[in-house]
Amino acid sequence: MDMTSVQDLDLQFRAAMRKLASTVTVVTARQADEHHGMAATAVTSLSMDPPSLLVCVNRTASMHSALHRSALFCINLLGEQHGPLCEAFGGKLTGAARFAVGEWASGEDEVRYLIDAPANIFCRLDEQHDYGTHTIFIGRVVRVRVMEDGKPLLYQAGAIGGFLAIR
Ligand SMILES: Cc1cc2nc3c(=O)[nH]c(=O)nc-3n(C[C@H](O)[C@H](O)[C@H](O)COP(=O)(O)O)c2cc1C
Repeated sequence: MDMTSVQDLDLQFRAAMRKLASTVTVVTARQADEHHGMAATAVTSLSMDPPSLLVCVNRTASMHSALHRSALFCINLLGEQHGPLCEAFGGKLTGAARFAVGEWASGEDEVRYLIDAPANIFCRLDEQHDYGTHTIFIGRVVRVRVMEDGKPLLYQAGAIGGFLAIR
């Protein structure tokens, strides 16, 4: 493939991914005594047997080394009211200052979780696989909190919004 078509493919792939709506989450982990959190949409359920999910994290993100060294992490699904968390944990704020936005508590192994999240999924890190610029972290689900009425915050084409059921 020549350079032009590589660039074309890159642009087309980016354009295609802008059509993919995903629930915004904040991944949290603790490394030594430091709390880390990062907005992530590359989160997917993997299997029910065993209950597991995966999250893809760029190796340049500060969360990467935290996850790499953590036994436990938590996927906090954001709700419609959590736009400010999406911004703060998506890069507007850095380090532990991010946790000044939203209501956080300490759960399993002192990993922070968002109290009013539609769901918090606590995982034990099971496997990790490097691919390109990212690492796929596979977590075995160990505990779940679910809020019955929680409505997910979606991210699509660089915007955030809610889900509208059509049937
Ligand atoms: C809505 C949204 C979704 C994101 N999803 C991911 C993701 O799935 N994986 C990832 O590595 N970065 C993702 N990012 C980017 C990271 O949140 C961002 O690079 C990170 O907060 C940078 O933190 P750092 O400066 O502490 O390294 C996302 C950002 C936003 C706003």
